[in-house]
Amino acid sequence: MIKLDYTNVSNNIIGDEGLDIERIFNEYAPRIQEIITNLNMNKDKPGYWLQWMNLGYREETVWYVKEFAAMVDGRFDNILVLGIGGSSLGGLALSEALLKPYWNLLDKEQRDNFPRIFFLDNIDPDEISGLLNILDLKKTLVNVITKSGSTAETMAQFMIIKDRMHELLGDDYRKNIVATTDKQAGILRQLANEEGYKTFVVPDDVGGRFSVFSAVGLLPLALVGIDIDEIIRGIKLMDLTLKNTDIRKNIAAQNALIHFLMDKEKGKYISVMMPYSSKLKYFPDWYAQLWAESLGKAYNKEGIEIHNGPTPLKARGVTDQYSQMQLFNEGKNDKVITFIRVNEFDNELMIPNIFEYTGVNYLGGKTINRLMNAEIDAASVTFCDYKRPNLTISLPRINEYYLAQLFYLYEIQTAIAGELYNIDAFSQPSTEHSKDYTYALMDRLGYEESANELREKIAKNKEIMGLN
Ligand code: PA5
Repeated sequence: MIKLDYTNVSNNIIGDEGLDIERIFNEYAPRIQEIITNLNMNKDKPGYWLQWMNLGYREETVWYVKEFAAMVDGRFDNILVLGIGGSSLGGLALSEALLKPYWNLLDKEQRDNFPRIFFLDNIDPDEISGLLNILDLKKTLVNVITKSGSTAETMAQFMIIKDRMHELLGDDYRKNIVATTDKQAGILRQLANEEGYKTFVVPDDVGGRFSVFSAVGLLPLALVGIDIDEIIRGIKLMDLTLKNTDIRKNIAAQNALIHFLMDKEKGKYISVMMPYSSKLKYFPDWYAQLWAESLGKAYNKEGIEIHNGPTPLKARGVTDQYSQMQLFNEGKNDKVITFIRVNEFDNELMIPNIFEYTGVNYLGGKTINRLMNAEIDAASVTFCDYKRPNLTISLPRINEYYLAQLFYLYEIQTAIAGELYNIDAFSQPSTEHSKDYTYALMDRLGYEESANELREKIAKNKEIMGLN
């Protein structure tokens, strides 16, 4: 199993900047017990947005995903995933971690005959045009993913690509589209019904950022040959482990509590996520959305204005040792750093002993794997020297089973943190607010009032600044 080491957040190691772990575990044991019991008790209740806790047990989804992947096997050279936020970040992070490095540059044989995969999660016209220049749409399966079925960015991408496909393939274009969306609601569902696309469902009460283990993440992964049964095995094991209501045995509860108290008692509200692995380079992006959109809230559950917000910060080891680490150590002591350590890499690379009589000869004859893990030890001890709290999560290796554990751990941790902060971790009112303004500015029907309000605000701001 993956492990959490919280030694370096203890006041025994970093003095007053750290926490008295014994005290906090004792003090919060009853509250944690209550939170975990409630999460498990409420997970099936409609409106609680906890259905993601059941995704490891939805055998029929896994079956349908595998059936579809087998059906299209060998038919496409490329998978193109359209989506934004929770509809893309999980699949992107997991595919980058689980596929061979530089997957899209490998030839078909090196990819074991599986297609290349592209995630379009932005609406940059140059990026989209560039991608369309290199993709043969006739040999591309487009997986358009939007739970609401109306997100402007995703639907705009889809409209451009669908139009091109229609031109190229005539009515057969439908065979190159698979939509993942709500079972009933939304424009994409309506279009899929009318035009006859193959569809997968984002289940009710699963929010975007908690949807990676639904068809949202599983389908793109299965299409490129990733073993989704192993993913399910990893989630189930983690789910069972994290049902333990004893804080001493529940690493999600420990990590949530440590981050919560570091923020509330020690003023360390920035959570740095720093995996020492290039394959995990998009994991901090997924984590940033999960942590930020879930915990950044203006009001608590009683409606009192609190402006809660532990801030996630993305970093990568060792690269950021030569970029942000100077600040982490000598800047404001307002951060908690999480290292992700991979015990065993797929490859072992020996550094050859070629510069024997030089200052780098100490490297020769050792593996670069050893250097990588020496760097985490060096970085974590340096952080302790500067009294900077840091934690380490260790993965035995990068595979489907351990990554599923890692992602699920963070989902549960986020839900527990939401309860500790006493906020609703499953809403995103200000994301919706800005989505509405975008609809208004793009003249969407029904948003006329918003559009007028918005234009007035922009004009007024300019007037105040004397810019008219
Ligand atoms: O977590 C969330 O709910 C959001 O970040 C959504 O994933 C994001 O807004 C995209 O929404 P949709 O899937 O409806 O297009």
